[in-house]
Order: sequence, then C-alpha cells, then structure tokens
Amino acid sequence: MAVVITVAQQKGGAGKTMLAANLAASLAATSRVALLDIDPQRSLARWHTLRATHGDRVAALEFSDVSGWRLGRELDQLQRDHDFVFIDSPPQIDTDARLAIRGADLVLIPVQPSPPDIWAAEGTLKLAADERRAARLALNRVPTGSRLRESVEADIAARKLPVLHATLGNRTVFASAFAAGLGVTEAAPRSTAAAELRALLAEIQEITRR
Ligand SMILES: Nc1ncnc2c1ncn2[C@@H]1O[C@H](COP(=O)(O)OP(=O)(O)OP(=O)(O)O)[C@@H](O)[C@H]1O
Ligand SMILES: [Mg+2]
Repeated sequence: MAVVITVAQQKGGAGKTMLAANLAASLAATSRVALLDIDPQRSLARWHTLRATHGDRVAALEFSDVSGWRLGRELDQLQRDHDFVFIDSPPQIDTDARLAIRGADLVLIPVQPSPPDIWAAEGTLKLAADERRAARLALNRVPTGSRLRESVEADIAARKLPVLHATLGNRTVFASAFAAGLGVTEAAPRSTAAAELRALLAEIQEITRR
C-alpha cells in the first residue's frame, strides 16, 4: 500500500503544485509513484502533459484527476498499485480536499516566509488535526540568511507549529524545470535546488517510513 502525501495550503501560490511535482519526479526514479490532481486549475495535469514530451528519458508517473464521488475509490486503487501517491489540492479546502487530507499519511503544507502564509497554514494544520493526520509545514522560497527567515522561524517555533527542518530556497530552476515538465533533480541534478529537494524528501521519508 502506498504512502499518501497530500499537499495542501489555503493560501494560493505557496508552492503546492511545485512541491508535489518535484517530490514525485524525484521518487519516480526508484519507486512506483502516482499523482492525483484535485485542483480544478489543473496545473499538475499540465506539467504531466509536458513531461510526456521527454518520452522514456524520464521515469514514468501515473496521473489521475478524478474528483467528486469517484475520488475515494480512485485513491484506494492508486494506493494499491503504487509506493507513493501525491495529491495536489486547490487553494481552498472543499469537499475533495477534505477527503484528500483524510486519506493522507502526511499532509505537507508549503509556506513562504510571510505572515499570511503562516496564518493560512494554521487553518490547514487544524483540518489535519481534526482528521488525526500527521502534518508538517515546508518552508518554501526562503531567502538565505535573511532577517525575514529568522523572524518567520521564530514565529513558527513560538506557535509550536510542526515544521520540516529542510527548506527550499527561491530558485529559478524550480520554475524552469516545472515549465519543462521535469523536477529539479532531473533538470539540474547537481543544483542547490536539487540538493534542497533531496534533503526535504529524505526527511519526509523518515516521517512516513512504516
Ligand atoms: N522555491 C521556489 N523557487 C522559485 N519559484 C517557485 C518556488 N516555489 C514555487 N515557485 C513558483 O511560484 C509559483 C506558484 O507555485 P505553485 O503553482 O506551485 O503554487 P500553488 O500553491 O500550487 O498555487 P495555487 O494555490 O494557485 O495552486 C509558480 O510559478 C512556481 O514556479
Ligand atoms: Mg497549485
């Protein structure tokens, strides 16, 4: 049975789709990975379509965008046939997103270092807690060595919010790889972005290891 990771955050543009795509692409080199896009914006679907242009040069990723009443059964099916399922959710918690949180082994909540992202993350954390799901914030687009980073980390610590130690910087390769249907570990395996992604993934695997 697959480990199910739902990427959720009510704040738009926090990095949900980018995170789901990159984690999935990195894991696909060694595991059976499926993507489930329940966001009507369908950004992950577009990314997956672009990925097809690389043919056999990239690892296969199963993709589904089933939603509504079929979602529960689809998730069961994907879970049976894969090692990991990543669910990308919309920037608002609707019925599908609630179901995706309920079905998750881990809820990942990308936050950019700004108060509105953290406030929005608290709402998603509460939803995960209501469903008794493990959840972690993942700091994204973090400027290195800045006062902003320090103040946000202090804020998160003061609020006792669960956060991953590994963080992702604000790096153009995340955007350029995404635009090519790739993850950073594929597009630029020796980049700082790829190293950050691998560190984040290692921490996630430690948490979800059964
Ligand atoms: N670490 C990063 N470095 C550089 N660009 C990034 C980074 N993370 C995300 N981005 C860019 O920020 C934009 C928003 O990211 P993304 O689409 O993943 O957010 P989202 O949370 O899925 O948004 P939505 O709520 O609309 O679904 C994208 O253009 C993406 O390429
Ligand atoms: Mg998105």
